[in-house]
Amino acid sequence: MEKRIHGYSGSKVILEEFLTGREASVMALVDGKDFLMLPVSRDHKRLSDHDLGPNTGGMGALAPLDLAPRDLEIIHKDILRKFVDGIKKENINFCGVIYVGLMFTPEGPKVLEFNTRFGDPETQALMPVIKTDLLELLAACADGQLKGKTLEINPGVCVTVVLSAEGYPENPQKGAEITGLGQVPAGVEVFHAGTAPSGGKTLTAGGRVLAVTALAPTLTEARKKAYAAAGKIQFEGMHYRKDIGL
Ligand code: GLY
Repeated sequence: MEKRIHGYSGSKVILEEFLTGREASVMALVDGKDFLMLPVSRDHKRLSDHDLGPNTGGMGALAPLDLAPRDLEIIHKDILRKFVDGIKKENINFCGVIYVGLMFTPEGPKVLEFNTRFGDPETQALMPVIKTDLLELLAACADGQLKGKTLEINPGVCVTVVLSAEGYPENPQKGAEITGLGQVPAGVEVFHAGTAPSGGKTLTAGGRVLAVTALAPTLTEARKKAYAAAGKIQFEGMHYRKDIGL
């Protein structure tokens, strides 16, 4: 705060109740009147294995999570429904994605944060799980026609592993050449985030560089597939967690 490293966001302190439990990310499409909840995911925020190191935007994610029916009911009725009713009441014509960061506490799910965007890297783990054409759902959102829409889900578990740049999160190094992308086996998706093309090469251009993503029948298989593919990719200073999904 003294050095103002976060600018004005460091000028005020808010003390909040400390919540213990496990976090999860709930995303829902909203058309202003109705919502369609997407499968629940979980990201791993710390830089290193066993949740050590500095906080990051997310070093990997897992989807879908199995939720207890009671928790699902609370998310539907007490969080998402109330959010949509609230914006309607306040004449806020919000149409798009709402992201709710939750903590599953001993007293049930509690909201940590709301964002009007997809989660990163939760979305990378979510996309292969969603079978329904996302474009149709987004169009229905834009047209206010979400009511009655349902979501078809692919079976299995999806794991995404973020490959980050040297120095991330404090001071990510850019400009390293990425090799091995062509050796990633079929059936594994590599989402580009902090990359840039340069003279026929792909270079690192941000902190979280790539997200290597695999869907498989079990968590063990999904992890194996994602990590085998991550092992094919190299760039100087590349870092990734080995315990995503565990
Ligand atoms: N992965 C955390 C976020 O998108 O806010």
